[in-house]
Amino acid sequence: MMYDWPEPIVRVQSLSESCENKIPNRYVKPPTERPSETTTSHLHDVNIPLIDLKSISSDIDGGGSDCDEEWRSTLEKVSEACREWGFFQVVNHGVRPELMDRAREVWREFFHQPMEVKQGYANSPKTYEGYGSRLGVEKGAVLDWSDYYFLHYLPSSLKDHNKWPALPTSLRDVIEEYAAQVAKLGGIIMKILSINLGLEENSLQNAFGGDNNIGTCLRVNFYPKCPQPDLALGLSSHSDPGGLTMLLPDQDVSGLQVRKNDAWITVKPAPHAFIVNIGDQIQVLSNAIYKSVEHRVIVNSAKERVSLAYFYNPKSDLLIQPLKELVSPEKPPLYAAMTFDEYRAYIRTKGPRGKAQLGESQKSPR
Ligand code: OGA
Ligand code: NI
Repeated sequence: MMYDWPEPIVRVQSLSESCENKIPNRYVKPPTERPSETTTSHLHDVNIPLIDLKSISSDIDGGGSDCDEEWRSTLEKVSEACREWGFFQVVNHGVRPELMDRAREVWREFFHQPMEVKQGYANSPKTYEGYGSRLGVEKGAVLDWSDYYFLHYLPSSLKDHNKWPALPTSLRDVIEEYAAQVAKLGGIIMKILSINLGLEENSLQNAFGGDNNIGTCLRVNFYPKCPQPDLALGLSSHSDPGGLTMLLPDQDVSGLQVRKNDAWITVKPAPHAFIVNIGDQIQVLSNAIYKSVEHRVIVNSAKERVSLAYFYNPKSDLLIQPLKELVSPEKPPLYAAMTFDEYRAYIRTKGPRGKAQLGESQKSPR
């Protein structure tokens, strides 16, 4: 693993303020990857499933009554969303709406501080913690139109408040509470998925190393205005390498697109919903019953966008492989055992590259 970036880092936010009406060539995607060529506009009424977790969040801690009809129907909706989309939105998820808004606002404030303040947190490819502007270390790569901030929450041995921004003053407290609440939601979704896979409810969590060993981290994405949004991407097509992702999108500006067969569907965020998606590690553990789905982010010329992606991951040095219960002579294991540390090194070196890592080709849809 490299210890520093292969070329000087340029903050996209600074570029956005200085580049007038033309973006540098480094950010111009090849024609087959440009949003204008691949977005399927006639599917504008399609959206990922929206699921109300009311019957679950109150129940699952207390054991949940298996015969409750509403509970069953919610589980079935999640099951279908996992199989059909790999993505869904949830409401009544147990995280306070005011906390969601506060979390987004403290990060917006962070990115609107003077550049000298942010540079104090500049990250390196060694751990990625801190303020960053690229993913991957290949010299000359075409870059994405975004900056980000990356930090660890669990395990607590990796959490280092000194690597979290000191300003705005409320950020550390707000993010501490936010990270705790969203981790709880992650645990609930892990149970739902386990039950839906026909497993004991703690199966996936145990495969991740159990309650005291899971890893969670936060990637805050900042997508500045882009004068040529048809030529660039805010985040190139990728699947998330970890277990589950719970994304808090910008409330006012859409941008996330999810791949559905050969089309890109723009997600329309519901008020105070989280967007949940399956990561590569759950694809591996479920032996591809659930698949991580490619997604990307488009940018626009009128508005910046802020999103918080919270990643719920296995203990990083544990071997992850298809669960025994889901493997049979008819369904042999599709993936070799690998630790998440080893797995994540790929995206951290090469940058986002569709689903190449799980052996799937990545033709751009038209
Ligand atoms: C990510 C991601 C989507 C978004 O950070 O992995 O897919 O809408 N973000 O910012
Ligand atoms: Ni993602």
